Amino acid sequence: MSLGLGRYLSLSTIRQQVVGINQKVPIYNGQRVRYINLDNAASTPTLKPVLDHVLAFLPWYSAVHRGSGYKSLVSTVTYDAARTRIAQFFGADPDYHVVIFGKNTTEAINTLAARLQFEPGDMVLTTLMEHHSNDLPWRRVAKVIRADVHEDGALDRDDLERKLSLHHRRIRLVALSGASNVTGWVNDIHSIAALAHHYNIPVMVDGAQLAAHRPINLLSPNDPRHIDFLAISGHKLYAPFGTGVLIGPRHVFERGSPEFVGGGTVSLVTPLGVEWAMPPAKDEAGSPNVIGVIALASALAILDDLGLDNIALHEQSLTDYALMQLGQIAKLKLYGSKKTQDMNRLGVISFELEGYDHALVAAILAFYGGIGVRSGCFCAQPYIQRLLGLDPITVARLRHRHSSGEIKYLPGLVRISLSMYNTPGELNHLAKTLQEICAHSPAYWLQHLRWDDDLQCYVLRDQRLVLPKQLLFQRRGSGLLPGIL
Ligand code: ALA
Repeated sequence: MSLGLGRYLSLSTIRQQVVGINQKVPIYNGQRVRYINLDNAASTPTLKPVLDHVLAFLPWYSAVHRGSGYKSLVSTVTYDAARTRIAQFFGADPDYHVVIFGKNTTEAINTLAARLQFEPGDMVLTTLMEHHSNDLPWRRVAKVIRADVHEDGALDRDDLERKLSLHHRRIRLVALSGASNVTGWVNDIHSIAALAHHYNIPVMVDGAQLAAHRPINLLSPNDPRHIDFLAISGHKLYAPFGTGVLIGPRHVFERGSPEFVGGGTVSLVTPLGVEWAMPPAKDEAGSPNVIGVIALASALAILDDLGLDNIALHEQSLTDYALMQLGQIAKLKLYGSKKTQDMNRLGVISFELEGYDHALVAAILAFYGGIGVRSGCFCAQPYIQRLLGLDPITVARLRHRHSSGEIKYLPGLVRISLSMYNTPGELNHLAKTLQEICAHSPAYWLQHLRWDDDLQCYVLRDQRLVLPKQLLFQRRGSGLLPGIL
């Protein structure tokens, strides 16, 4: 497939296009091994064509919607075209929807929470599987009620329907994740939207975890299954340049005042008054992140060319392989669906190794296997507490011990998260390293590792983290320059 800039890509060659795919990292014995990134749910790396696009744009970079110089005009037109491209990717209707840029999904949801007009007693129905970013913003503006989850982490659809039917007069919004960043559970967003719309309740999808793995289409607002609001992050979509997106009906943002005010948000300001600009400008205070937006549009064009349906199938077989490999490790307990060919789950797999602290397992994977994973609660503590079966009294005790500084880190899990460029070979290496972990006691591993309070994780006792020279910010000559020593 042609991706502009002369590249032809397919899913089978995409790995070679991942920036940093051959990056080596040091391990315990001083050797350097190729890094295996199994932490794509946190952030995906970028792709060479995205970087090329950014580099091709940078000589033209200038202020958008502010300057009349030629570069400003090129920047403005490119930036506006990127907005249109992003809208298309999610099936947004330019006459009906508005695409608002911010930093990330968290900011997008906070913006929406600030812009919807809630009254005392109003409720937001969400679920117990949410990331904190789709829970805490709603707590500020409404009473949050949560649809429960089953023991395996799947959404309890009956509970969601029950809560909708019981509280629909007070519910102002259903806010749910497209997919869980803990179990990879994929919510049936369109059928849940149809349920909510039956009561005239709009739906917001936190698409952060879903967007790189499944097609998301907002659908026509006349379709009962349509999605009203969508929030996503560029850094989970191969565009880690600091852009997030909120899409919603334009008329919602025409009302009221923006959350952040200042340059770009106004059409007229007098000493005594202000006329707000039209959306999206009204909700994008200050100079925008032009590079981030262009990178995101470029990454989405690549995903479109590769085909999200193809990506989904490819990642599903990788996920099945991972589940099979992990399933063979005796001390390993998997969370979430263990079914193969399960299109209701992404390649986000959380587990625990019996007898081993999650942070210790993650550190051994890093320093003995060169494998990057995440451990802990993944910004979804209520969901993790539920998956671990912690009862309310235990959770209350935990909270008390935590607030009195008695515990360093919370109970949690280890998570691997796959992406389109991971390989079965990497999963073999993961399984082999996990087997090696199980061959020794935690006390054995702790002889070699120590807890680092600054980094909040275990590191090797006898090795310092040495930054590559190119990354140091050094004083060079008389000026301060990012130093190449
Ligand atoms: N939400 C991101 C994660 O799950 C940061 O790791």
